[in-house]
Amino acid sequence: MVLTKNNAINQQAVGVMDSGVGGISVLKHIHALLPFEDLIYFADSKYAPYGSKTPEEITARCMAIADFLIEKNVKALVVACNTATAAAIDALRDNYAPPDFNFIIIGMEPALKPAAEASANGIIGVLATVGTLKSAQFAALLESYGRNVKVVTQGCEGLVECIERGKLDAPNTKALIRQYIAPLLAEGADTIVLGCTHYPFVAHIIREVVGLESNFKPISLIDTGLAVAKQLKRQLLEKGLLSIGMQPASIQFYSNSTNQQAGAVVEQLWGMPADVVLIDTV
Ligand code: DGL
Repeated sequence: MVLTKNNAINQQAVGVMDSGVGGISVLKHIHALLPFEDLIYFADSKYAPYGSKTPEEITARCMAIADFLIEKNVKALVVACNTATAAAIDALRDNYAPPDFNFIIIGMEPALKPAAEASANGIIGVLATVGTLKSAQFAALLESYGRNVKVVTQGCEGLVECIERGKLDAPNTKALIRQYIAPLLAEGADTIVLGCTHYPFVAHIIREVVGLESNFKPISLIDTGLAVAKQLKRQLLEKGLLSIGMQPASIQFYSNSTNQQAGAVVEQLWGMPADVVLIDTV
């Protein structure tokens, strides 16, 4: 893929990607904050979960998706995935956003800093994928923001798969959440970071489990979606790439899922009818 310098072409869409449907939780914040931006979402569901893949495998997937979205002429790429950011953000920036190009790349990481500020007792739980928790980026985050607090981490194997199938309230999903929350509560966490973009879709169950298991002690859940949307807005403004808003935004979903229900799951999570194209070429 050859990039050309673009000059503040502000009617281009914003590309958003994730290993699957989780990044739709971020897309919602972006659409709410930037209602005039056209959005193109790519769900790499055929290759989900990323949490158990190597950084090299994840980087290769991110490059393929970035090529696809840049082919669609996007002005920005939001990596709405903590695991993909940890594995691939440096390679993506090196390849697609050299300093003299007006192309924006936004990544995301578990919200340790806001959690450390919000916690009253200094005990923070982090729910994330195994890939995120063992990444160098997460180690650096702990180093920067985890010094004066106790951070209890929990990898949540199997949870992304439940959400990919749209089984948000299934007994198996609830059982996994109960299992993963227990160690955080046992350590006394009063603040829980949702360190994977799939997890906001089961926040209602996490709240239910946390409420029941903690005898209704107040526990905050921290999600990074809004912060990512704000960061995107700031960068679009700075680079003169914000859409002017002459017409309602279009939101286009692409998924390479082989599950015939993929479109229905996207609509379930997006919360309204969605234009979903199933493709098998990326
Ligand atoms: N949604 C992703 C994240 O934020 C990754 C989930 C996965 O594919 O393992 O980490």
